[in-house]
Amino acid sequence: MEFQAKQLFAKHGVATTLGVVVETAEAAKAAAEEIGGVTVIKAQVKAGGRGKAGGVKIAKTADDAFEHASNILGMEIKGLTVNRVLVTPATPPEEEYYFSFLLDRSNRQYLCIASVEGGVEIEEVAKTNPDAVKQIGIDPGTGVDEAKAREIAAEAKFPEAVFEQAVEMIQALYKTFVEEDATLVEVNPLARLAGDKLEALDGKVSLDDNASEVRHPEHAEFEIREEADALESKAKDLGLNYVKLDGQVGIIGNGAGLVMSTLDVVAYAGEKHGNVKPANFLDIGGGANAQVMANGLDVILNDDQVASVFVNVFGGITACDEVAKGIVGALDILGDEASKPLVVRLDGNNVALGRQILNERNHPLVTVVDTMDGGADKAAELANA
Ligand SMILES: Nc1ncnc2c1ncn2[C@@H]1O[C@H](COP(=O)(O)OP(=O)(O)O)[C@@H](O)[C@H]1O
Ligand SMILES: [Mg+2]
Repeated sequence: MEFQAKQLFAKHGVATTLGVVVETAEAAKAAAEEIGGVTVIKAQVKAGGRGKAGGVKIAKTADDAFEHASNILGMEIKGLTVNRVLVTPATPPEEEYYFSFLLDRSNRQYLCIASVEGGVEIEEVAKTNPDAVKQIGIDPGTGVDEAKAREIAAEAKFPEAVFEQAVEMIQALYKTFVEEDATLVEVNPLARLAGDKLEALDGKVSLDDNASEVRHPEHAEFEIREEADALESKAKDLGLNYVKLDGQVGIIGNGAGLVMSTLDVVAYAGEKHGNVKPANFLDIGGGANAQVMANGLDVILNDDQVASVFVNVFGGITACDEVAKGIVGALDILGDEASKPLVVRLDGNNVALGRQILNERNHPLVTVVDTMDGGADKAAELANA
């Protein structure tokens, strides 16, 4: 969120104003009084375009701050509920620029995108005035030193009056990007304020999850539980490799490759069945036991969007009979909560025993299939029915 991005900016010497984050209109009023003068009330959600959506308002007085905060708190922006606002001094920009560093995976380097036509959505500028959006590749080996920062500032055509500040800021933003293990650092607008002062008026930082546990344990503080997807949080607590998607067919598999292929075949099969799509990615891993299967089913069956589940397991380290026991056990644990049809395809180690366990239990919700394509088709059909 903006207020968190600004904390990281400040830590690395990027000129910005932190402001005060509050969760009630009363607190917004108090913060506005404390700051004094004209303030801006800004919705804090992980989405851009808050200004356009009515989530950024100028407050001339503390009472205005109360009024705006009451309206913005609880508002929905791009499907996200606003639970907090940032109260910050109003510093009207004279010019608005755009600046970002991101990963350019296909070219195996970093990319800097800079434009003096900022403030608005950069994708729009790129369409209407592509020459105004400069893309500068960064060799991760050499990074951004002062000379490179000058090159970027010149290429982007930052005006003379703020040029030296831009050079400083570009280096500080690069420091933020690299030292925080970010995959994106974006400032829009990078504003030229009165007196030719350059400041980050908005900020967005995406942090690399792979770096969070060991390199940046302090990043855990940025996670706001109530803002995270409830199912993803639950899966995380259970130690599951789960990603929520938009479809109707819940997926459980073992091994990332098999699960990815399963998503593909389900999406393909779905084309014939009302365009149903996979509802999630869930890899229960190579050595998963019965409990892990039960946990996985628990998460998926609690997804309201899920209409059917496809369990696609290749028995290896975990043999198929273990998996079958896991499915039967999970259904018993879940009882009436398990109300959605399950299509199960097992193959590999101990497959005969696995199928036998499922057939003997003969659960009304379970259909055992022989092939992956057949399973995908059946699960899609059931989701559509
Ligand atoms: N502190 C501020 N003082 C004055 N104007 C501001 C301030 N912060 C933002 N604005 C104005 O509001 C616009 C939108 O705010 P921004 O933080 O960029 O949100 P978003 O990108 O989500 O719309 C900015 O382009 C800027 O013109
Ligand atoms: Mg912005």
